[in-house]
Amino acid sequence: MILVTGGAGYIGSHTLRALQAAGHTQILVLDNLYSGHRWALPSNVALIEGSVGDATLLDRIFKEHPIDSILHFAAHLEVEESVREPVKYYENNFRNSSILISKASEYLVKNFVFSSTCAIYGNPPSNPVGEDCPKSPLNPYGKSKLMTEWFLEDLVRAGKTALNYVSLRYFNVAGAHVAGGLGQATPRATQLVKVTAEVACGKRDKLLVYGSDYATHDGTCIRDYIHVDDLASAHVSALDFLKRERRSEVFNLGYGSGYTVLEIVAAMKRVSGVNFKVEMVPRRPGDAEAIFADNSKLLAMLDWKPRYADIDLICQTALDWERTRP
Ligand SMILES: NC(=O)c1ccc[n+]([C@@H]2O[C@H](COP(=O)([O-])OP(=O)(O)OC[C@H]3O[C@@H](n4cnc5c(N)ncnc54)[C@H](O)[C@@H]3O)[C@@H](O)[C@H]2O)c1
Repeated sequence: MILVTGGAGYIGSHTLRALQAAGHTQILVLDNLYSGHRWALPSNVALIEGSVGDATLLDRIFKEHPIDSILHFAAHLEVEESVREPVKYYENNFRNSSILISKASEYLVKNFVFSSTCAIYGNPPSNPVGEDCPKSPLNPYGKSKLMTEWFLEDLVRAGKTALNYVSLRYFNVAGAHVAGGLGQATPRATQLVKVTAEVACGKRDKLLVYGSDYATHDGTCIRDYIHVDDLASAHVSALDFLKRERRSEVFNLGYGSGYTVLEIVAAMKRVSGVNFKVEMVPRRPGDAEAIFADNSKLLAMLDWKPRYADIDLICQTALDWERTRP
């Protein structure tokens, strides 16, 4: 049985569909609904409402269910908030994750897929970024994720656990389920494609662009945007890898090319046909200038191929979802 933490959230709920499409039927979700939604779960997947940091609850879950694999999505993830409220991030992302991982190890869970992030690299010296690039996170969000990676690495290195892990270092996740009916509904979301879709729908009156004096071709930050359904299917491949190889690995999960903020704005204007208002404002603390993935390791070692690497499709699915969402 697979335990999916944070399964009611944006990426978790898409991954549940990918797991089911791949034939996985024994799935349990643990989510405290801090930013997730009950309606985002498939009707045949059970939700346990609670925190991954609740050791007593975890004891009960592991005693009552034969869990052999965990996909750990549950976290807080707003960079700017993490700079203002570091305790919240270290507690939820590191402390609660370490409780979950310790319990998983105690109950002999074998496979653990961790939602890591390219934020652990900070401002990389060059692009594309490989997995061995120096880790220099610029904010408590990235640091709390890197600490969890280190915790997993040290646990496995000590050799006293049945657990193996794959850390997937996501780049910028965007778009909505290609089949429709599901997308990002995170309250107060700050991700660019999501916010741009909200502006195009008239849910916000303008788009703020944080910094137009970066050393990039149009002065705005560069990111590697990956469609959420491609990201979701990579988790199925990561689980297969763990079952097949029985060893731990870290992988960058992005498409390997980047777009500036203004290029995303142009794509969203193109697909929506709306010439929405854009305002340049000063840089935000904790933002990297440019980052995109070297994904060659993942392409070589996981049985995974991107299907939706098209920025207009990413924007279109985000927009369609934003126009119709509950
Ligand atoms: N969205 C991105 O672009 C992106 C990029 C890199 C990494 N990630 C990582 O992917 C994961 C999922 O992100 P998302 O975009 O789906 O966010 P989300 O906020 O939509 O989902 C997070 C889910 O975790 C739940 N949760 C939070 N704390 C919890 C706790 N202590 N116990 C139980 N449930 C808890 C929330 O209720 C929510 O359902 C996170 O770990 C995040 O750091 C996301």
